[in-house]
This record gives sequence, C-alpha cells and structure tokens, in this order.
Amino acid sequence: MKERTFVLLKPDAVRRKLIGRIIQRFEDKGFEIVEMKMITLSKEMAEEFYKMHKGKDFYERLIEFMTSGRVVAMIIEGENAISVVRKMIGKTNPAEAEPGTIRGDFALSTPDNLIHASDSKENAEREIKLFFGKLE
Ligand code: TYD
Repeated sequence: MKERTFVLLKPDAVRRKLIGRIIQRFEDKGFEIVEMKMITLSKEMAEEFYKMHKGKDFYERLIEFMTSGRVVAMIIEGENAISVVRKMIGKTNPAEAEPGTIRGDFALSTPDNLIHASDSKENAEREIKLFFGKLE
C-alpha cells in the first residue's frame, strides 16, 4: 500500500553533513521525497512535536537539542513507507540499533540519534500537518 510518512533529520545530521547520505538511502530504496524544507525549530514547535514525552527525564535535554540548529523536514512516499522507513532508521538507542540501519551506522547516543520517522499512520498525519500544514 502506497503511503506517506514524515521524516526529520535532526540538528546533528545537519552539523555532521550527513543529509545527503541519509536521503540517498531512502532514494536508493525506491522511496520518493515529495516535500522537503530546512528550518530551525522554535521551542514551541519542538514542544508540540514531542508533547507525548513531556515530563519524562530526557524531555528538557531533547527540546534543547532539537532547537540547537537547523533540521530538514520531509515527506517520504512509497509502498509501506511508515514501517519500512522505521526499519531503515533503526532502534531509538543507537547503541542497540542494528548495523545497516541509519542510527546503527552513524550514531552512538541519544538524543543525538540523527533522525525521526513517524511510527504510525496517526502520527504521520499529525506530523505532516504540523510541519507542512496539510493532511496527506
Ligand atoms: P521516541 O519517540 O521514544 O523514539 P523514536 O525517535 O525512535 O521514535 O523518543 C523520541 C526521542 O527522544 C528519541 O529519538 C531520542 C529522545 N530520547 C532520549 O533522549 N532518551 C530516551 O530514553 C528516549 C526513549 C528517547
């Protein structure tokens, strides 16, 4: 089933000049980038994006990190995009992420684990609306 997911390259991906290599993996896999923009998140935007984590011990550090530099937001389209892209990014904790995944190959710690991808259809819709202002 062709679907759309939301991907965010975090500030560490931009700082480490990994944007091209990360996007290349999605294109190589057969996905299409249908929307993309580079922005700096405001505190309000980062807090809305990660509101489900409010109050957790890592939350303040996470918000500080997410607002520390530019990010690249994109909508990726393709067959089973949500689950396949989640598989390609690897586990949240890069120390546990399998080699061959983006976090497994390029990251070591949190919150600087390079990339976010929607984990469900509901979240994909919410995140696409938040960043691109539409439901698609
Ligand atoms: P989460 O939504 O659980 O993971 P994912 O990014 O894989 O969907 O967490 C959001 C981000 O919060 C995660 O990418 C990095 C940060 N985080 C921490 O810094 N420490 C933690 O223990 C967890 C669970 C997340």
